[in-house]
Amino acid sequence: MERILILTGAGISAESGLATFRGPDGLWEGHRVEDVATPEAFARDPALVQAFYDARRARLDEVQPNAAHRALARLDREWPGELLIVTQNVDDLHERAGARRVLHMHGELRSAWCLACDARTAWRDGLSSGPACPACGKAGALRPDIVWFGEMPYGMERIEAALREADLFVSIGTSGAVYPAAGFVQTARYAGARTLEINLEPSLGSVWFDEVRTGPAGKLVPGWVEEVLGE
Ligand code: OAD
Repeated sequence: MERILILTGAGISAESGLATFRGPDGLWEGHRVEDVATPEAFARDPALVQAFYDARRARLDEVQPNAAHRALARLDREWPGELLIVTQNVDDLHERAGARRVLHMHGELRSAWCLACDARTAWRDGLSSGPACPACGKAGALRPDIVWFGEMPYGMERIEAALREADLFVSIGTSGAVYPAAGFVQTARYAGARTLEINLEPSLGSVWFDEVRTGPAGKLVPGWVEEVLGE
């Protein structure tokens, strides 16, 4: 039974109405990524960064998983072999579609991280008002549980092991601009996996893929899942 490792990025949530990071104007919801997604930005202007992520978190209430999320959730349910969905996305659309084997390497919008006690707590409201940490009671110490530029992605040991063991590596909706995720295809390939890219356009790393399918994820992913399930 093939071991499948799937990497997803912002492109898989685009058809749900969530903005990708590197849009045509080079901005993310009107901001340069560096101004809202670095620890330095948070140190310089915590109010701006908290307000930015509060808005992103609130937006999750307005969007739904799309056909690509649903197809991956179905694959997760029906694939009897090993499978892992590593997502760079901080939304919860994979889970809301029903996927269970999901690893959020860049953190999650609906999680808050306490800088005082290190606890992580499921969080749906805003953080701008400086609420108290449910674990230690300290007010004003919660930050978005998001991996910013310069910080260590989550789950790297598990991901590296899965990359080395994978028979099939599939990258969906990611530009290949941000490491370490952008390098996963090379690790998987040199360890012997077949590699497939599904993206609106060839990514920066498309030369590393055995096969590249270009088009919207909502259209291409369901068809690919049917192929894998042998239909
Ligand atoms: P990007 O915005 O860099 O890339 C999104 C990719 O999805 C682009 O290559 C688009 O062409 C493609 N795309 C857009 N719509 C699509 C659709 N309907 N179907 C298929 N593909 C589509 O997003 P990521 O690669 O996810 O990190 O960005 C990586 C990381 O950079 C993010 O996780 C984030 C950001 O800074 C952090 O926040 C730490």
